[in-house]
Amino acid sequence: MLLSRESKNSPVNSAGTFPFIRFDAVIHFAGLKAVGESVSKPLLYHDNNIVGTITLLEVMAAHGCKNLVFSSSATVYGWPKKVPCTEEFPLSAVNPYGRTKLFIEEICRDLRNSDSQWKIILLRYFNPVGAHPSGLIGEDPRGTPNNLMPFVQQVAVGRGQALTVFGKDYSTKDGTGVRDYIHVVDLADGHIAALKKLSDPKIGCDVYNLGTGKGTSVLEMVTAFEKASGKKIPLQIAGRRPGDAEVVYASIKKAETELKWKAKYGIEDMCKDQWNWASKNPFGYGSLESKK
Ligand code: WQD
Repeated sequence: MLLSRESKNSPVNSAGTFPFIRFDAVIHFAGLKAVGESVSKPLLYHDNNIVGTITLLEVMAAHGCKNLVFSSSATVYGWPKKVPCTEEFPLSAVNPYGRTKLFIEEICRDLRNSDSQWKIILLRYFNPVGAHPSGLIGEDPRGTPNNLMPFVQQVAVGRGQALTVFGKDYSTKDGTGVRDYIHVVDLADGHIAALKKLSDPKIGCDVYNLGTGKGTSVLEMVTAFEKASGKKIPLQIAGRRPGDAEVVYASIKKAETELKWKAKYGIEDMCKDQWNWASKNPFGYGSLESKK
């Protein structure tokens, strides 16, 4: 629906048409994100994520809005040869999901190069975890979760028997994979900081990591969640998951310096807030029936 800024309260003007409204900016979060599903359904992911983004960019241009914050992902670093990952690292994709993120970043860079009116900030999320402290909104994956913490959450509320730990032979402190887990509220604040940064005339198409700069292992996350929930999480140790990197965590210098943003919450907060949501909503947003 198009509303004019002047007539925000009356969507239809005297001529009975919808006057034009100017949009200041767009934050583009939308996209399919299950790595495993992207491997079995690549066309679904390329169509939804890439074609969907092209359509959005065309509509934005048609409405005179060329300010974009895009939700990219640390997955564009592929299997980083060293850590922490800086925004200047070489990019590669190791699955169709990651490829869609990488292609969309390149589309944004091409768009900016073609028209300097575009101002774009690409935010590379590391591993989002947790829930809003109110316990009213949280993660509710449909079907079997792909990511670690939604799976831990399902075991804790009794929807899963045990957590399968993919690999305990990595050269890490306890042999399990290490990632940079970031609280979703910190992630949201990072978007606000990026929106504000769009008004900087120096912004063209710029990239920022959104992480904590700290690596945490699978077993450390499980221990933290057990402490926060008071629940024991049974484990099954399995082989490595194909495509998994060993250790991935962010360099946060650029976001700290240029966005004046830094993650505030630690693993304990993430697990406390995630458990607060899960314990109040063991079956997510749906009813018990819809989740059976
Ligand atoms: C984390 C660690 C697993 C599940 C993916 C995307 C990335 C981002 C986050 C969107 C690994 C281990 C997991 C389980 C386990 N998505 N694990 N048992 O693979 O780092 O990143 O999701 O922005 O782009 O690539 O996240 O949560 O799947 O895995 O042992 O049941 O937990 O091996 O070490 P990942 P993850």
